[in-house]
Amino acid sequence: MQKKISRIGVLCSGGDSPGMNACIRAVVRTGIYHELEVFGVMRGYMGMVEDDIKPMDTRSVANIIQRGGTILKTARCMEFMEYDGRKKAYENLRKRGIDGLVIIGGDGSFRGAQTFSNEFDIPCIGLPGTIDKDIAGTDFTIGFDTAVNTAVEAIDKIRDTADAHDRMFIIEVMGRDAGYIALHSGIATGAENILIPEKKTDINYIIESLLEKEKRKKLVNIIIVAEGEEFGGANELSKFIKNRIPSLEVRVAILGHIQRGGSPTCMDRLIASRMGYHAVECLLEGRHNVFVGIVNNKMNYTPLNEAVKKKQRINEEWMKIVKILAT
Ligand code: F6P
Repeated sequence: MQKKISRIGVLCSGGDSPGMNACIRAVVRTGIYHELEVFGVMRGYMGMVEDDIKPMDTRSVANIIQRGGTILKTARCMEFMEYDGRKKAYENLRKRGIDGLVIIGGDGSFRGAQTFSNEFDIPCIGLPGTIDKDIAGTDFTIGFDTAVNTAVEAIDKIRDTADAHDRMFIIEVMGRDAGYIALHSGIATGAENILIPEKKTDINYIIESLLEKEKRKKLVNIIIVAEGEEFGGANELSKFIKNRIPSLEVRVAILGHIQRGGSPTCMDRLIASRMGYHAVECLLEGRHNVFVGIVNNKMNYTPLNEAVKKKQRINEEWMKIVKILAT
């Protein structure tokens, strides 16, 4: 017989992503709808370890659905990686009677949740909140759509100036281990090349295609590079290209953390609300220690210990499309 859940905690962990607030709102209001007591844990697992936990009500999540960042703040917590830190965290939850947790974060946060739920009797539900979209078991993660649209807007602007000056631009987008922001924003802006951590960078191919384009006076080239790409990112690539083709005017733009902030798109608010609602339903129905994703527009539940093992795979066809369209 499952224990009845009566008090739940919600937290954000790892890098923030637009839509986290919409998700917190959904968890809090669904919990209250079901007559649960809901607590907000500040600064991710840090708040659990340091006992920074506060009661939430429907008003405490008013007017946040449109805001980027997270009202609960977020952090990466080293203490939670140690058993003693997790035990402290457990004791802090237990003294308030918290018997269920919703964790909004990326794969690192899910790893923490998985270990914690294996060691202590507090069921955890993960919700994929990361701009990187690097978690298998969901088509989208909360924040990805906003981040990619921010990148698209910036790249479009850069293309205007590239075109005015007949210049080449190398634009670095976020993604230490994942190339989805690069791939989506690159295809959507007509990039000539997209370099991502998941694929080996063929530098000779890049140089040859630039030389070929130079011959036919195609001087406006946009290369999108994910920050974790193996050649060393936009600056390294620019140095190499300038060295090999001195006649090319090359400029670098690193978009950085603007991709993590800003008001979430409709899509991010929508998936955040659906996922937040279903996280609470999972806790109540006894579907524990899973992460809630959306696949083909339907809710999808992946056990946390499977979720931490798998990465989304890059679609080879998309890479082919980039090559064919960039002529
Ligand atoms: O995980 C999201 C992400 O934005 C990565 O793409 C990026 O490499 C990393 O976070 C940056 O983290 P920080 O803000 O801690 O430097």
